[in-house]
Amino acid sequence: MPNEESIEKRISPLDMGSREFRELGAQLIDRIAGFLDSLPSRPVTPGESPASVREALDAGRSLPQHSADPAQLLNHAADLLFEHSLFNGHPRFWGYITSSAAPIGALGDLLAAAVNPNVGAWLLSPMASEIEAQTIRWIAEMLGYPADCGGLFVSGGNMANFVCFLAARQAKAGWDVRKEGMAGARLRVYCSKETHTWVQKAADISGLGTDAIRWIGVDDAMRVDLTALREQILADIAAGDKPVLVVGNAGSVSTGAIDPLPQLAALCREFNLWFHVDGAYGGLAAVLPDAPQALTGLREADSVAVDPHKWLYAPLEAGCALVRDPEKLRDAFAYHPVYYHFGVEAINYFDLGPQNSRGFRALKIWLALQQAGRDGYVRMISDDVRLARALFARIPQYPELEALTQSLSITTFRYVPADLSSGDEKVAAYLDKLNLELLTRLQNSGRVYLSNAVIQGKFALRVCIVNFRTSLADVEALLPIVVATGNELDAALRPQELS
Ligand SMILES: Cc1ncc(COP(=O)(O)O)c(C=O)c1O
Repeated sequence: MPNEESIEKRISPLDMGSREFRELGAQLIDRIAGFLDSLPSRPVTPGESPASVREALDAGRSLPQHSADPAQLLNHAADLLFEHSLFNGHPRFWGYITSSAAPIGALGDLLAAAVNPNVGAWLLSPMASEIEAQTIRWIAEMLGYPADCGGLFVSGGNMANFVCFLAARQAKAGWDVRKEGMAGARLRVYCSKETHTWVQKAADISGLGTDAIRWIGVDDAMRVDLTALREQILADIAAGDKPVLVVGNAGSVSTGAIDPLPQLAALCREFNLWFHVDGAYGGLAAVLPDAPQALTGLREADSVAVDPHKWLYAPLEAGCALVRDPEKLRDAFAYHPVYYHFGVEAINYFDLGPQNSRGFRALKIWLALQQAGRDGYVRMISDDVRLARALFARIPQYPELEALTQSLSITTFRYVPADLSSGDEKVAAYLDKLNLELLTRLQNSGRVYLSNAVIQGKFALRVCIVNFRTSLADVEALLPIVVATGNELDAALRPQELS
């Protein structure tokens, strides 16, 4: 049994003296620096099976009973992660929409964790709360959105969109949804079929239900069909339903398509609907001097979601919700329990979103925004777009490749053996299968990493460049790899599939 002395002069198994902290920190930073240097020469992924990763971890062992040497623990953790991870910081990682993370963001996260402010309330995080407010304003400035908007950082695009969705629900339902619940009312939400799956989760957890979503068709450029949208709104009103929200995409997840945002804004004004823009991926392209014209409509939105862990190159996690009228955020989230007395004269972030205790996500973004400055971000984002266009422009040099779409920094294409460029349904099914197998083989190879899209029913390979480490040489290396791997695979698969 520990005696009283042990709490008089407390020695905690988790505390660390400053000397040890310095030494361990220096060693770890040294290893991380080496790891970052080594990225281009590593495979993008080791392509291991879950069983071999679990084996490397010794996944089944029980919780250790006794304390362990922190130096060894940190070294072991670094070994595990450096040898058994997929590296989205690799110059040839172009999958999904995940960026290379800025090194200053990693240092920022370390600093944030060391000070550990709780950015739920101003009193608990005076400087951190103000840094978050300033960072939100800077992001709004980049987008051309009103700088006096309300906003906060959340974990990512899904959460940022949920926050805006819930603000829209409370603002437009016409009764106090938060208190009275959904009460069977038929609120309706409109978005293109290309909209990310967050909208399903939002409709689900907000109580609207996924049947509330009206999935509107798209044109050849994958943008929402305005005529079909208007017809659906009118039909719903005629049926006694209540349209509340239109979602526009500023860079759709599959192809980077930008919906006609100015026209969507006008439609929302006409029908008194909340206009939300999902700019999780492409919203930040609004900072470019030659930004696509449709992005100007983002400025008219009632709310916007953008993801600093995409095109601001922040380490995961960082999403950002912006709402034009800050009161609408408070209306959607604030409660004032008796056990909180944080004062009202300063910003208390627990009032503006679903979280109570909150980490200091803003710091890594605040640091990176200043390290690169607006000019630096314009250069990085526009280089990503130029590289994706350069890739698209090179596709016709390869007779086995079919170029499909190009928008923002997303390029899609597929492998089509020259003698199968036209064919029946069986050929079409074979090409889908071939490209799926090709994708898997490319991903497992560790040489490059891309993901997929389905374009007009065709399974496509998809490259999304949100990666300040990618250069033209990386992009130029991709297509010969795709063609050679496709040729091998076609030779092996075709006799079984198309004989
Ligand atoms: C357009 C769009 N919206 C929302 C999301 C969801 O973002 P997150 O994965 O950060 O939650 C994504 C993710 O790729 C996206 O591309």
